[in-house]
Amino acid sequence: MERVLSGMRPTGKTHLGHLHGVLRNWRDLQDRYECFYFVADWHALTSEYKEPEVIKESISEMVIDWLAVGLDPERSTLFIQSWVKEHAELHLLFSMITPLGWLERNPTYKEQQEELKGKDLGTYGFLGYPVLQAADILIYKAQYVPVGKDQLPHLELTREIARRFNYLYGEVFPEPQALLTEAPHIPGIDGKKMSKSYNNAIYLSDPPEVIAQKISVMFTDPQRGRRTDPGRPELCPVFALHRLHSSQEKQREIEVECRRAGIGCVDCKRVLTENLLRDMAPLQQRRADFAQRLRDVREILQEGSRRAREIASRTMEEVRRAMSVDW
Ligand code: TRP
Ligand code: SF4
Repeated sequence: MERVLSGMRPTGKTHLGHLHGVLRNWRDLQDRYECFYFVADWHALTSEYKEPEVIKESISEMVIDWLAVGLDPERSTLFIQSWVKEHAELHLLFSMITPLGWLERNPTYKEQQEELKGKDLGTYGFLGYPVLQAADILIYKAQYVPVGKDQLPHLELTREIARRFNYLYGEVFPEPQALLTEAPHIPGIDGKKMSKSYNNAIYLSDPPEVIAQKISVMFTDPQRGRRTDPGRPELCPVFALHRLHSSQEKQREIEVECRRAGIGCVDCKRVLTENLLRDMAPLQQRRADFAQRLRDVREILQEGSRRAREIASRTMEEVRRAMSVDW
């Protein structure tokens, strides 16, 4: 079976954006590939190094969400990056051959520095973020890397590093390909992209009352000031969530009724709340179960990290030999 690998930074709670944009896709890939999914805690540290406690607190919460969504430790290798030290060694060796220009040109680097202005990202570690990511991917010789569009420059850099390594020291690494996740548009309660930093997210861990409350204050089509004004579902964030949680039939009905002011936003939201809570209930139940079994969760990660290390250490032997650091 071909190999898939991806990672997620533990910088906070999982929300609906992660669920629909990433985790469902990760879950489905398990049917077709040998999957490796890991907690990118060192990557989180590149931006959160001043408050590293947040990372530590997020790890178990995040992995509980993974398990609740259906990532299956019997089929997939689930692990923590910092528990497989070989990633750090490969990162170091890659840093010897990666031209500074490649990193300085990286569009994500500049964008993130702009976006996270308050964070002081002028560090060596942050510049090297994609080098560490290349090590994560190449150490498992993964064929496919499911990522969002924003990560494509990092994947391209990974391929460039693989090519340069192979050119300098002989063929060791295959060039991985992105598996582009076509992420549906998932707006937060203010209509902007759902994100922890916008404070507009619905979390998998939110209790039903909180979810209901968040939906009740959710933005709608701004042109629908009055109940009698017709609305435009295609511009309404509430409708965007209907697309993910309501039946086709219901969606069509709402679409028609909204356009002719036949349904009010309050009722429309009530239907959404019901459907969303119905979809979330089993997930939240599994979440609660795993939260009671933190020791098992830890064991899953230990076992996964052991499996990951087996492969990573084999690759490192090859790398050391190729690079003549095997004296
Ligand atoms: N940079 C990725 C993100 O922010 C996380 C990540 C780290 C990753 N290492 C990876 C993703 C390796 C895929 C493969 O989403
Ligand atoms: Fe949005 Fe529903 Fe109101 Fe239409 S009726 S504007 S889809 S909340």
